[in-house]
Amino acid sequence: MTTWLITGGAGYIGAHVVRALRESGRSVVVLDDLSTGHADRIPDDVPLAQVSVLDTPSVRDALREYAVDGVVHLAAKKAVGESVEQPLHYYRENVTGVISLLEAMRDEGVHNLVYSSSAAVYGEPPWSPIREETPCAPLSPYGETKLVGEWMIRAAASAQRLSWVALRYFNVAGAGAPELRDTSVNNLIPMVYAALERGVAPQVFGSDYPTPDGSCIRDYIHVSDLADAHVAAAAYCEANDAQDVFNVGTGEGASVWEVMAAVSEAVGHDIGAVAVARRTGDPPELVASADRIAGVLGWQARRDLAEMVSSARLD
Ligand SMILES: NC(=O)c1ccc[n+]([C@@H]2O[C@H](COP(=O)([O-])OP(=O)(O)OC[C@H]3O[C@@H](n4cnc5c(N)ncnc54)[C@H](O)[C@@H]3O)[C@@H](O)[C@H]2O)c1
Repeated sequence: MTTWLITGGAGYIGAHVVRALRESGRSVVVLDDLSTGHADRIPDDVPLAQVSVLDTPSVRDALREYAVDGVVHLAAKKAVGESVEQPLHYYRENVTGVISLLEAMRDEGVHNLVYSSSAAVYGEPPWSPIREETPCAPLSPYGETKLVGEWMIRAAASAQRLSWVALRYFNVAGAGAPELRDTSVNNLIPMVYAALERGVAPQVFGSDYPTPDGSCIRDYIHVSDLADAHVAAAAYCEANDAQDVFNVGTGEGASVWEVMAAVSEAVGHDIGAVAVARRTGDPPELVASADRIAGVLGWQARRDLAEMVSSARLD
């Protein structure tokens, strides 16, 4: 049995990855500073090292103490808007965090790494679906930090033995269990439920985009499917000398109006969404090509939008 350290394992996605890796028969340990995560998301029998990934000696200690074979690195700051206001904080946390982790892994001889990247590395490509070889042109400091992380891992892999996979997540949604829900309100589906909770009409930003119903199209991926992709990536790193980047999406887009309709269906009444002006910086369509991950890792999404939306409900 191999042991994996999950940085950011107390976060929304990390908590699902912890469970999926355990169910795959691996032993897991969490490293998290609880800056945005919650300790009660971690199962009681999973050890937690409550330290920052920037604290290299403590990361080394955790790798050694638990005889770690591989790391899933999710610990990061993830709010695009905040990254514009506090770029240096994002660079420190997300970029220095990767440096610290890679140094600790090098020092402790840990060779397997699955890295949380993001569709934000692509920026606004003019064509869809987006393939891994689509040029990266991030539009925010957040997206830049994720791309720099990929570069550093690739560079480190040629200097230290590293079998690595970077997963570029598209729009993550849903929950595997109510207590594992996304509690931050950065993404569309949590924003819709938060609006309903406050008794206000959910807003559709822009209805004049060049898309069939005029609203933006995104590729929504259920967090439990995403967690399964991490298991496939971990197994791939263990069995190969991996150096790969994969999109993680369904390969199909849903428009904002379609998401609103799915929420209406989930709650059993029309939620009365209203169209308002566009927000700056929202590309019309971002849909992944999921062919590569299907071909190489044998992974594909199994859950649909209705399941994402109903599992994200607050009541
Ligand atoms: N949620 C999304 O839609 C999405 C999309 C693409 C990529 N990602 C990436 O997935 C990863 C996880 O995102 P999430 O949605 O679960 O966010 P989250 O905020 O719920 O989880 C991040 C976790 O990392 C921890 N953390 C942050 N900085 C840390 C540090 N310096 N040291 C130790 N722990 C630290 C937090 O306490 C938290 O538990 C991030 O790397 C994010 O960039 C998320």
